[in-house]
Amino acid sequence: MSSVEDNKSLEFKDLPGPRGLPWLGNALQLDPARMQEVIENWADQYGTPYRIQIGSRKAVVIADADMARQAFRERPDTFRRYRPLEAIAQEMNILGLFPAEGDDWRRQRRAWMQALNFHQVKPFFASLTETTERLRKRWQKAAINGEPVDVQADLMRYTVDVTTQFAFGHDSNTLEQDGDVIQQHLGKVFHMINRRLAMPIPYWRWFKLPSDRDLEKSLLAVREFAHEMIERSRQRIAANPELAKHPTNLIEALLVSRDEDGSTYSDDEIYGNAIVALLAGEDTTANTIAWMIHMLTLHPGAQQRMQQEIDQALGGNLLWQQLEDADRLTYIDAVTNETLRLKPVAPLIFLCANEDTMLGNLRLKEGTNVIMALRHLSTRSEEFSDPDAFDPDRWLQGGKQQRGENLPPMPFGGGPRMCPGRNLAQMEIKSVMAMLARNFQVEAWDEQPVTEKFSFTLMPKNLRARFSPRSHEQRRVA
Ligand code: HEM
Repeated sequence: MSSVEDNKSLEFKDLPGPRGLPWLGNALQLDPARMQEVIENWADQYGTPYRIQIGSRKAVVIADADMARQAFRERPDTFRRYRPLEAIAQEMNILGLFPAEGDDWRRQRRAWMQALNFHQVKPFFASLTETTERLRKRWQKAAINGEPVDVQADLMRYTVDVTTQFAFGHDSNTLEQDGDVIQQHLGKVFHMINRRLAMPIPYWRWFKLPSDRDLEKSLLAVREFAHEMIERSRQRIAANPELAKHPTNLIEALLVSRDEDGSTYSDDEIYGNAIVALLAGEDTTANTIAWMIHMLTLHPGAQQRMQQEIDQALGGNLLWQQLEDADRLTYIDAVTNETLRLKPVAPLIFLCANEDTMLGNLRLKEGTNVIMALRHLSTRSEEFSDPDAFDPDRWLQGGKQQRGENLPPMPFGGGPRMCPGRNLAQMEIKSVMAMLARNFQVEAWDEQPVTEKFSFTLMPKNLRARFSPRSHEQRRVA
Protein backbone atom coordinates (compact mmCIF):
# COMPACT_ATOMS: atom_id res chain seq x y z
CA MET A 1 0.00 0.00 0.00
CA SER A 2 1.07 3.58 -0.61
CA SER A 3 2.38 5.54 2.38
CA VAL A 4 0.64 8.78 1.40
CA GLU A 5 -2.76 9.19 3.07
CA ASP A 6 -4.93 12.25 3.41
CA ASN A 7 -8.11 12.81 5.37
CA LYS A 8 -9.83 14.61 2.48
CA SER A 9 -9.42 11.74 0.11
CA LEU A 10 -10.98 11.77 -3.35
CA GLU A 11 -12.59 8.86 -5.18
CA PHE A 12 -12.66 8.26 -8.93
CA LYS A 13 -16.37 9.14 -9.05
CA ASP A 14 -15.67 12.58 -7.46
CA LEU A 15 -13.36 13.65 -10.25
CA PRO A 16 -14.36 16.05 -13.00
CA GLY A 17 -13.76 15.13 -16.63
CA PRO A 18 -14.92 15.58 -20.21
CA ARG A 19 -18.33 14.16 -21.12
CA GLY A 20 -18.18 11.16 -23.39
CA LEU A 21 -20.56 9.04 -25.47
CA PRO A 22 -22.31 5.90 -24.24
CA TRP A 23 -20.09 2.82 -24.82
CA LEU A 24 -17.29 4.81 -26.46
CA GLY A 25 -16.61 7.24 -23.61
CA ASN A 26 -14.04 9.84 -24.78
CA ALA A 27 -12.49 7.60 -27.46
CA LEU A 28 -13.59 9.75 -30.41
CA GLN A 29 -12.17 12.91 -28.81
CA LEU A 30 -8.77 11.28 -28.27
CA ASP A 31 -7.22 11.58 -31.73
CA PRO A 32 -4.16 9.28 -31.39
CA ALA A 33 -1.88 11.68 -33.30
CA ARG A 34 -2.79 14.59 -30.96
CA MET A 35 -3.34 12.65 -27.76
CA GLN A 36 -0.84 14.71 -25.72
CA GLU A 37 -2.52 17.98 -26.74
CA VAL A 38 -6.03 16.76 -25.95
CA ILE A 39 -4.97 15.39 -22.53
CA GLU A 40 -3.12 18.63 -21.69
CA ASN A 41 -6.01 20.85 -22.79
CA TRP A 42 -8.36 18.88 -20.55
CA ALA A 43 -5.89 19.30 -17.67
CA ASP A 44 -6.15 23.07 -18.20
CA GLN A 45 -9.93 22.82 -18.25
CA TYR A 46 -10.60 20.33 -15.42
CA GLY A 47 -7.48 20.69 -13.26
CA THR A 48 -5.61 17.70 -11.84
CA PRO A 49 -6.53 14.92 -11.28
CA TYR A 50 -9.40 14.39 -13.73
CA ARG A 51 -10.98 11.31 -15.27
CA ILE A 52 -11.52 10.02 -18.80
CA GLN A 53 -12.92 6.85 -20.35
CA ILE A 54 -11.84 4.97 -23.50
CA GLY A 55 -14.52 2.39 -24.26
CA SER A 56 -14.87 0.40 -21.04
CA ARG A 57 -11.41 1.51 -19.79
CA LYS A 58 -11.43 4.22 -17.15
CA ALA A 59 -8.35 6.33 -16.44
CA VAL A 60 -7.28 9.04 -14.05
CA VAL A 61 -5.08 11.76 -15.55
CA ILE A 62 -2.58 13.35 -13.17
CA ALA A 63 -0.53 16.47 -13.84
CA ASP A 64 0.95 16.95 -10.39
CA ALA A 65 4.67 16.61 -9.60
CA ASP A 66 4.24 14.99 -6.15
CA MET A 67 1.80 12.41 -7.46
CA ALA A 68 4.06 11.67 -10.44
CA ARG A 69 7.10 11.19 -8.19
CA GLN A 70 5.12 8.88 -5.90
CA ALA A 71 3.86 6.74 -8.81
CA PHE A 72 7.37 6.51 -10.29
CA ARG A 73 8.79 5.53 -6.89
CA GLU A 74 6.20 2.81 -6.23
CA ARG A 75 6.89 0.75 -9.36
CA PRO A 76 6.84 -2.07 -10.13
CA ASP A 77 4.93 -3.15 -6.98
CA THR A 78 2.07 -0.68 -6.52
CA PHE A 79 1.96 0.58 -10.11
CA ARG A 80 2.52 -1.32 -13.33
CA ARG A 81 2.32 -0.35 -16.97
CA TYR A 82 -1.11 0.32 -18.46
CA ARG A 83 -2.53 -3.18 -19.05
CA PRO A 84 -3.68 -2.63 -22.66
CA LEU A 85 -0.09 -1.63 -23.53
CA GLU A 86 1.22 -4.88 -22.11
CA ALA A 87 -1.37 -6.89 -24.05
CA ILE A 88 -0.65 -4.97 -27.28
CA ALA A 89 3.12 -5.52 -26.86
CA GLN A 90 2.60 -9.22 -26.15
CA GLU A 91 0.46 -9.68 -29.27
CA MET A 92 3.40 -8.26 -31.23
CA ASN A 93 5.71 -10.67 -29.42
CA ILE A 94 7.63 -7.80 -27.76
CA LEU A 95 8.57 -9.35 -24.43
CA GLY A 96 11.58 -7.36 -23.23
CA LEU A 97 12.27 -4.94 -20.37
CA PHE A 98 9.77 -2.24 -21.36
CA PRO A 99 6.59 -4.35 -21.01
CA ALA A 100 7.99 -6.66 -18.26
CA GLU A 101 6.60 -6.54 -14.69
CA GLY A 102 7.48 -7.84 -11.20
CA ASP A 103 10.33 -10.38 -10.91
CA ASP A 104 10.65 -10.70 -14.69
CA TRP A 105 11.33 -6.98 -14.85
CA ARG A 106 13.84 -7.10 -11.93
CA ARG A 107 15.85 -9.84 -13.63
CA GLN A 108 15.97 -8.12 -17.02
CA ARG A 109 16.62 -4.70 -15.54
CA ARG A 110 19.85 -5.98 -13.89
CA ALA A 111 21.24 -7.09 -17.27
CA TRP A 112 20.25 -3.79 -18.88
CA MET A 113 21.83 -1.70 -16.13
CA GLN A 114 25.00 -3.69 -16.44
CA ALA A 115 25.14 -3.16 -20.20
CA LEU A 116 24.18 0.52 -20.12
CA ASN A 117 26.07 1.88 -17.11
CA PHE A 118 28.43 4.76 -17.70
CA HIS A 119 31.57 2.57 -17.65
CA GLN A 120 30.16 0.39 -20.42
CA VAL A 121 29.08 3.42 -22.43
CA LYS A 122 32.46 5.19 -22.14
CA PRO A 123 34.59 2.87 -24.34
CA PHE A 124 31.88 3.14 -26.96
CA PHE A 125 32.62 6.84 -27.46
CA ALA A 126 35.10 6.25 -30.31
CA SER A 127 32.66 4.29 -32.52
CA LEU A 128 29.91 6.79 -31.69
CA THR A 129 32.21 9.54 -32.98
CA GLU A 130 32.74 7.61 -36.23
CA THR A 131 28.97 7.40 -36.74
CA THR A 132 28.68 11.14 -36.07
CA GLU A 133 31.32 11.72 -38.75
CA ARG A 134 29.13 9.79 -41.24
CA LEU A 135 26.21 12.03 -40.36
CA ARG A 136 28.44 15.10 -40.86
CA LYS A 137 29.32 13.86 -44.35
CA ARG A 138 25.66 13.21 -45.20
CA TRP A 139 24.72 16.73 -44.10
CA GLN A 140 27.75 18.25 -45.84
CA LYS A 141 26.62 16.67 -49.12
CA ALA A 142 23.12 18.14 -48.69
CA ALA A 143 24.62 21.53 -47.77
CA ILE A 144 26.89 21.61 -50.84
CA ASN A 145 24.05 20.50 -53.15
CA GLY A 146 21.64 23.00 -51.58
CA GLU A 147 19.15 20.20 -50.81
CA PRO A 148 16.65 20.24 -47.94
CA VAL A 149 17.53 17.93 -45.05
CA ASP A 150 14.80 15.65 -43.70
CA VAL A 151 16.26 16.06 -40.23
CA GLN A 152 14.26 13.42 -38.43
CA ALA A 153 14.76 10.72 -41.09
CA ASP A 154 18.54 11.25 -41.03
CA LEU A 155 18.59 11.17 -37.25
CA MET A 156 16.63 7.90 -37.23
CA ARG A 157 19.38 6.39 -39.38
CA TYR A 158 21.94 7.78 -36.96
CA THR A 159 20.27 6.41 -33.82
CA VAL A 160 19.63 2.97 -35.36
CA ASP A 161 23.29 2.76 -36.38
CA VAL A 162 24.37 3.73 -32.85
CA THR A 163 21.88 1.37 -31.18
CA THR A 164 22.83 -1.66 -33.28
CA GLN A 165 26.51 -1.05 -32.53
CA PHE A 166 25.87 -0.54 -28.87
CA ALA A 167 23.26 -3.22 -28.23
CA PHE A 168 24.36 -5.84 -30.79
CA GLY A 169 27.99 -5.03 -31.64
CA HIS A 170 26.97 -4.71 -35.31
CA ASP A 171 27.51 -1.71 -37.58
CA SER A 172 24.34 -1.39 -39.73
CA ASN A 173 25.63 1.79 -41.37
CA THR A 174 22.23 2.85 -42.70
CA LEU A 175 23.59 6.44 -42.86
CA GLU A 176 25.61 5.58 -45.93
CA GLN A 177 22.74 3.73 -47.63
CA ASP A 178 19.78 5.06 -49.55
CA GLY A 179 16.31 3.60 -49.86
CA ASP A 180 14.37 1.40 -47.44
CA VAL A 181 15.98 0.66 -44.15
CA ILE A 182 14.82 -0.98 -40.90
CA GLN A 183 13.78 2.46 -39.54
CA GLN A 184 10.60 2.56 -41.66
CA HIS A 185 9.42 -0.71 -40.13
CA LEU A 186 10.20 0.45 -36.59
CA GLY A 187 8.21 3.63 -37.28
CA LYS A 188 5.18 1.56 -38.30
CA VAL A 189 5.38 -0.53 -35.13
CA PHE A 190 5.37 2.63 -32.98
CA HIS A 191 2.51 4.11 -34.97
CA MET A 192 0.36 1.00 -34.55
CA ILE A 193 1.08 0.63 -30.81
CA ASN A 194 -0.14 4.19 -30.42
CA ARG A 195 -3.23 3.68 -32.59
CA ARG A 196 -4.23 0.48 -30.83
CA LEU A 197 -3.84 2.15 -27.41
CA ALA A 198 -6.47 4.73 -28.36
CA MET A 199 -8.97 2.19 -29.79
CA PRO A 200 -12.11 1.64 -27.68
CA ILE A 201 -12.28 -2.02 -28.83
CA PRO A 202 -9.45 -4.31 -30.01
CA TYR A 203 -11.06 -4.88 -33.45
CA TRP A 204 -7.79 -6.39 -34.84
CA ARG A 205 -8.41 -9.53 -32.81
CA TRP A 206 -11.42 -10.25 -35.07
CA PHE A 207 -10.52 -8.69 -38.42
CA LYS A 208 -7.51 -6.94 -39.98
CA LEU A 209 -7.46 -3.60 -41.82
CA PRO A 210 -4.74 -2.90 -44.44
CA SER A 211 -2.74 -1.04 -41.75
CA ASP A 212 -2.83 -4.17 -39.54
CA ARG A 213 -1.54 -6.29 -42.42
CA ASP A 214 1.21 -3.71 -43.02
CA LEU A 215 2.11 -4.00 -39.36
CA GLU A 216 2.54 -7.75 -39.75
CA LYS A 217 5.00 -7.17 -42.59
CA SER A 218 6.93 -4.62 -40.53
CA LEU A 219 7.03 -6.91 -37.49
CA LEU A 220 8.36 -9.68 -39.70
CA ALA A 221 11.12 -7.42 -41.07
CA VAL A 222 12.08 -6.25 -37.53
CA ARG A 223 12.02 -9.85 -36.30
CA GLU A 224 14.31 -11.05 -39.09
CA PHE A 225 16.69 -8.16 -38.41
CA ALA A 226 16.77 -8.91 -34.66
CA HIS A 227 17.26 -12.66 -35.24
CA GLU A 228 20.21 -11.97 -37.50
CA MET A 229 21.78 -9.71 -34.84
CA ILE A 230 21.29 -12.36 -32.16
CA GLU A 231 22.72 -15.11 -34.36
CA ARG A 232 25.85 -13.03 -35.07
CA SER A 233 26.32 -12.46 -31.33
CA ARG A 234 26.00 -16.22 -30.71
CA GLN A 235 28.65 -16.92 -33.34
CA ARG A 236 31.00 -14.30 -31.86
CA ILE A 237 30.69 -15.85 -28.40
CA ALA A 238 31.31 -19.34 -29.81
CA ALA A 239 34.44 -18.08 -31.59
CA ASN A 240 35.68 -16.11 -28.58
CA PRO A 241 34.75 -17.77 -25.24
CA GLU A 242 36.31 -14.80 -23.37
CA LEU A 243 33.11 -12.88 -24.31
CA ALA A 244 31.11 -15.22 -22.06
CA LYS A 245 33.06 -13.79 -19.09
CA HIS A 246 33.17 -10.20 -20.32
CA PRO A 247 30.26 -9.49 -22.67
CA THR A 248 30.71 -6.31 -24.69
CA ASN A 249 27.10 -5.44 -25.48
CA LEU A 250 23.51 -5.91 -24.32
CA ILE A 251 22.71 -9.01 -26.38
CA GLU A 252 25.96 -10.75 -25.42
CA ALA A 253 25.18 -9.90 -21.76
CA LEU A 254 21.71 -11.46 -22.08
CA LEU A 255 22.99 -14.53 -23.96
CA VAL A 256 25.60 -15.42 -21.33
CA SER A 257 23.64 -14.31 -18.26
CA ARG A 258 22.77 -16.96 -15.64
CA ASP A 259 20.53 -16.38 -12.65
CA GLU A 260 21.47 -17.61 -9.19
CA ASP A 261 19.45 -20.77 -9.91
CA GLY A 262 21.36 -21.25 -13.19
CA SER A 263 18.41 -20.35 -15.43
CA THR A 264 19.03 -18.44 -18.63
CA TYR A 265 17.01 -16.02 -20.75
CA SER A 266 14.61 -17.67 -23.19
CA ASP A 267 15.00 -17.01 -26.92
CA ASP A 268 11.76 -15.00 -26.79
CA GLU A 269 13.12 -12.77 -24.02
CA ILE A 270 16.38 -12.17 -25.88
CA TYR A 271 14.49 -11.43 -29.07
CA GLY A 272 12.04 -9.15 -27.15
CA ASN A 273 14.90 -7.17 -25.62
CA ALA A 274 16.59 -6.77 -29.00
CA ILE A 275 13.36 -5.18 -30.27
CA VAL A 276 12.99 -3.05 -27.13
CA ALA A 277 16.56 -1.76 -27.61
CA LEU A 278 15.77 -0.82 -31.22
CA LEU A 279 12.43 0.78 -30.39
CA ALA A 280 13.48 2.57 -27.18
CA GLY A 281 16.86 3.68 -28.51
CA GLU A 282 15.77 5.02 -31.88
CA ASP A 283 12.81 7.41 -31.86
CA THR A 284 13.46 8.87 -28.43
CA THR A 285 16.95 10.18 -29.15
CA ALA A 286 16.30 11.02 -32.81
CA ASN A 287 13.20 13.06 -31.92
CA THR A 288 14.98 14.88 -29.10
CA ILE A 289 17.82 15.97 -31.41
CA ALA A 290 15.32 16.86 -34.16
CA TRP A 291 13.39 19.09 -31.73
CA MET A 292 16.67 20.71 -30.64
CA ILE A 293 17.50 21.54 -34.25
CA HIS A 294 14.02 22.95 -34.73
CA MET A 295 14.53 25.16 -31.65
CA LEU A 296 17.82 26.47 -33.09
CA THR A 297 16.07 27.41 -36.34
CA LEU A 298 13.58 29.44 -34.30
CA HIS A 299 16.18 31.00 -31.99
CA PRO A 300 19.25 32.19 -33.95
CA GLY A 301 20.72 33.74 -30.77
CA ALA A 302 20.84 30.30 -29.12
CA GLN A 303 22.45 28.83 -32.23
CA GLN A 304 25.15 31.50 -32.13
CA ARG A 305 25.83 30.87 -28.43
CA MET A 306 26.20 27.15 -29.14
CA GLN A 307 28.60 27.85 -31.99
CA GLN A 308 30.73 30.13 -29.81
CA GLU A 309 30.91 27.50 -27.07
CA ILE A 310 31.86 24.72 -29.44
CA ASP A 311 34.48 26.82 -31.30
CA GLN A 312 36.19 27.50 -28.00
CA ALA A 313 35.98 23.91 -26.76
CA LEU A 314 37.01 22.04 -29.91
CA GLY A 315 39.98 24.07 -31.15
CA GLY A 316 40.73 22.84 -34.70
CA ASN A 317 38.56 19.66 -34.56
CA LEU A 318 35.34 19.27 -36.51
CA LEU A 319 33.87 16.82 -33.97
CA TRP A 320 33.77 16.37 -30.19
CA GLN A 321 36.55 13.81 -29.80
CA GLN A 322 37.62 13.96 -26.15
CA LEU A 323 35.08 12.59 -23.71
CA GLU A 324 36.65 14.75 -20.96
CA ASP A 325 35.51 17.90 -22.81
CA ALA A 326 31.88 16.97 -22.02
CA ASP A 327 31.77 19.26 -18.98
CA ARG A 328 32.81 22.25 -21.07
CA LEU A 329 29.73 21.94 -23.28
CA THR A 330 27.32 23.44 -20.77
CA TYR A 331 25.30 25.44 -23.28
CA ILE A 332 24.52 22.26 -25.24
CA ASP A 333 23.33 20.72 -21.95
CA ALA A 334 21.14 23.78 -21.30
CA VAL A 335 19.55 23.58 -24.78
CA THR A 336 19.02 19.82 -24.26
CA ASN A 337 17.27 20.35 -20.91
CA GLU A 338 15.13 23.18 -22.22
CA THR A 339 14.11 21.22 -25.34
CA LEU A 340 13.26 18.15 -23.25
CA ARG A 341 11.15 20.40 -21.00
CA LEU A 342 9.10 21.82 -23.89
CA LYS A 343 9.21 18.83 -26.27
CA PRO A 344 9.69 15.73 -24.10
CA VAL A 345 9.55 12.60 -26.25
CA ALA A 346 7.43 10.96 -23.55
CA PRO A 347 4.88 13.67 -22.62
CA LEU A 348 2.46 10.99 -21.35
CA ILE A 349 3.24 7.90 -19.24
CA PHE A 350 0.60 5.17 -18.98
CA LEU A 351 0.31 3.19 -15.71
CA CYS A 352 -2.16 1.04 -13.80
CA ALA A 353 -2.68 0.43 -10.04
CA ASN A 354 -1.72 -3.13 -9.07
CA GLU A 355 -3.70 -2.93 -5.82
CA ASP A 356 -6.09 -0.62 -3.92
CA THR A 357 -3.91 2.33 -2.98
CA MET A 358 -3.66 6.08 -2.33
CA LEU A 359 -1.95 8.33 -4.84
CA GLY A 360 -1.61 11.61 -2.96
CA ASN A 361 -5.12 12.13 -1.66
CA LEU A 362 -6.69 10.10 -4.45
CA ARG A 363 -8.13 6.69 -3.59
CA LEU A 364 -7.49 4.25 -6.42
CA LYS A 365 -9.02 0.82 -6.85
CA GLU A 366 -6.91 -2.05 -8.15
CA GLY A 367 -6.89 -1.94 -11.94
CA THR A 368 -7.44 1.84 -12.25
CA ASN A 369 -5.44 3.22 -15.14
CA VAL A 370 -3.32 6.30 -14.50
CA ILE A 371 -2.02 8.62 -17.23
CA MET A 372 0.76 10.99 -16.16
CA ALA A 373 0.78 14.23 -18.16
CA LEU A 374 4.50 14.80 -17.65
CA ARG A 375 4.99 17.81 -19.89
CA HIS A 376 2.14 19.65 -18.26
CA LEU A 377 4.07 19.50 -14.98
CA SER A 378 6.73 21.87 -16.19
CA THR A 379 4.84 24.01 -18.68
CA ARG A 380 2.28 24.82 -15.96
CA SER A 381 4.69 24.76 -13.02
CA GLU A 382 5.30 27.80 -10.87
CA GLU A 383 8.90 26.56 -10.61
CA PHE A 384 9.54 28.06 -14.05
CA SER A 385 9.07 31.72 -14.85
CA ASP A 386 7.53 32.33 -18.29
CA PRO A 387 7.17 28.54 -18.63
CA ASP A 388 6.18 28.47 -22.32
CA ALA A 389 9.29 30.41 -23.41
CA PHE A 390 12.38 28.64 -24.80
CA ASP A 391 15.07 29.92 -22.43
CA PRO A 392 18.17 27.67 -22.10
CA ASP A 393 19.67 30.16 -19.64
CA ARG A 394 17.27 29.00 -16.95
CA TRP A 395 19.42 25.83 -16.73
CA LEU A 396 22.77 27.60 -16.38
CA GLN A 397 24.57 28.77 -13.24
CA GLY A 398 22.06 29.73 -10.58
CA GLY A 399 19.19 28.22 -12.58
CA LYS A 400 17.10 25.12 -12.03
CA GLN A 401 19.92 22.69 -12.80
CA GLN A 402 21.41 23.61 -9.41
CA ARG A 403 18.36 22.26 -7.64
CA GLY A 404 18.50 18.56 -8.29
CA GLU A 405 17.12 16.04 -10.77
CA ASN A 406 13.92 15.34 -8.95
CA LEU A 407 12.09 18.45 -10.14
CA PRO A 408 9.89 18.52 -13.19
CA PRO A 409 10.23 18.00 -16.13
CA MET A 410 11.61 14.46 -15.46
CA PRO A 411 12.15 13.71 -19.20
CA PHE A 412 13.79 10.34 -18.45
CA GLY A 413 11.10 9.33 -15.96
CA GLY A 414 11.96 8.56 -12.33
CA GLY A 415 12.21 5.85 -9.67
CA PRO A 416 13.27 2.26 -10.35
CA ARG A 417 12.07 2.30 -13.98
CA MET A 418 13.91 5.48 -14.93
CA CYS A 419 15.34 5.30 -18.45
CA PRO A 420 18.42 3.01 -18.46
CA GLY A 421 19.54 4.52 -21.80
CA ARG A 422 19.99 8.10 -20.61
CA ASN A 423 23.84 8.06 -20.50
CA LEU A 424 23.96 6.74 -24.04
CA ALA A 425 21.27 9.19 -25.21
CA GLN A 426 23.05 12.17 -23.66
CA MET A 427 26.31 11.18 -25.32
CA GLU A 428 24.59 10.88 -28.73
CA ILE A 429 22.84 14.24 -28.30
CA LYS A 430 26.08 15.99 -27.37
CA SER A 431 28.05 14.39 -30.18
CA VAL A 432 25.52 15.40 -32.88
CA MET A 433 24.89 18.90 -31.52
CA ALA A 434 28.63 19.61 -31.19
CA MET A 435 29.17 18.44 -34.80
CA LEU A 436 26.23 20.53 -36.00
CA ALA A 437 27.29 23.71 -34.21
CA ARG A 438 30.90 23.35 -35.36
CA ASN A 439 30.17 22.73 -39.03
CA PHE A 440 26.77 24.08 -40.06
CA GLN A 441 24.41 26.99 -39.84
CA VAL A 442 20.85 25.67 -39.84
CA GLU A 443 17.63 27.42 -40.90
CA ALA A 444 14.05 26.37 -41.61
CA TRP A 445 13.72 25.27 -45.27
CA ASP A 446 10.31 26.80 -45.87
CA GLU A 447 7.49 28.62 -44.14
CA GLN A 448 5.51 25.47 -43.42
CA PRO A 449 4.93 25.33 -39.66
CA VAL A 450 6.52 22.45 -37.75
CA THR A 451 3.85 20.74 -35.66
CA GLU A 452 3.73 17.99 -33.03
CA LYS A 453 2.75 14.44 -33.91
CA PHE A 454 2.19 11.89 -31.18
CA SER A 455 3.15 8.40 -32.27
CA PHE A 456 3.90 6.83 -28.89
CA THR A 457 6.75 9.36 -28.79
CA LEU A 458 6.37 13.06 -29.57
CA MET A 459 7.85 13.82 -32.97
CA PRO A 460 8.13 16.93 -35.15
CA LYS A 461 6.09 16.98 -38.37
CA ASN A 462 7.24 18.93 -41.47
CA LEU A 463 10.75 19.53 -40.14
CA ARG A 464 12.91 20.24 -43.19
CA ALA A 465 16.00 22.37 -42.78
CA ARG A 466 18.60 24.18 -44.84
CA PHE A 467 22.15 23.34 -43.78
CA SER A 468 24.89 25.80 -44.84
CA PRO A 469 28.57 25.13 -44.19
CA ARG A 470 29.96 27.59 -41.66
CA SER A 471 32.69 29.76 -43.17
CA HIS A 472 36.25 29.70 -41.89
CA GLU A 473 35.62 33.19 -40.56
CA GLN A 474 32.65 31.99 -38.52
CA ARG A 475 34.66 29.05 -37.27
CA ARG A 476 37.37 31.24 -35.75
CA VAL A 477 37.37 31.16 -31.95
CA ALA A 478 35.34 34.15 -30.81
C1 HEM B 1 16.56 11.40 -25.27
C2 HEM B 1 16.42 10.08 -25.27
C3 HEM B 1 15.53 9.31 -24.35
C4 HEM B 1 14.48 9.74 -23.59
C5 HEM B 1 13.93 11.15 -23.43
C6 HEM B 1 13.97 8.58 -22.89
C7 HEM B 1 12.91 8.62 -22.01
C8 HEM B 1 12.46 7.52 -21.30
C9 HEM B 1 11.42 7.55 -20.31
C10 HEM B 1 10.61 8.79 -19.90
C11 HEM B 1 11.29 6.31 -19.80
C12 HEM B 1 10.39 5.88 -18.65
C13 HEM B 1 9.11 5.34 -19.12
C14 HEM B 1 8.31 4.86 -17.92
O1 HEM B 1 8.42 5.42 -16.84
O2 HEM B 1 7.55 3.95 -18.08
C15 HEM B 1 12.22 5.45 -20.50
C16 HEM B 1 12.35 4.09 -20.28
C17 HEM B 1 13.19 3.28 -21.01
N1 HEM B 1 14.16 3.69 -21.90
FE1 HEM B 1 14.51 5.58 -22.50
N2 HEM B 1 14.70 7.48 -23.25
C18 HEM B 1 15.68 7.88 -24.13
C19 HEM B 1 16.64 7.08 -24.73
C20 HEM B 1 16.80 5.73 -24.53
C21 HEM B 1 17.83 4.90 -25.12
C22 HEM B 1 18.95 5.41 -26.02
C23 HEM B 1 17.59 3.60 -24.72
C24 HEM B 1 18.35 2.33 -25.01
C25 HEM B 1 19.10 2.04 -25.98
C26 HEM B 1 16.42 3.64 -23.86
C27 HEM B 1 15.86 2.53 -23.27
C28 HEM B 1 14.79 2.57 -22.39
C29 HEM B 1 14.19 1.37 -21.79
C30 HEM B 1 14.59 -0.07 -22.06
C31 HEM B 1 13.20 1.83 -20.93
C32 HEM B 1 12.28 0.97 -20.05
C33 HEM B 1 12.90 0.84 -18.67
C34 HEM B 1 12.09 0.00 -17.71
O3 HEM B 1 10.89 -0.15 -17.91
O4 HEM B 1 12.68 -0.44 -16.72
N3 HEM B 1 15.98 4.93 -23.76
N4 HEM B 1 12.94 6.22 -21.39
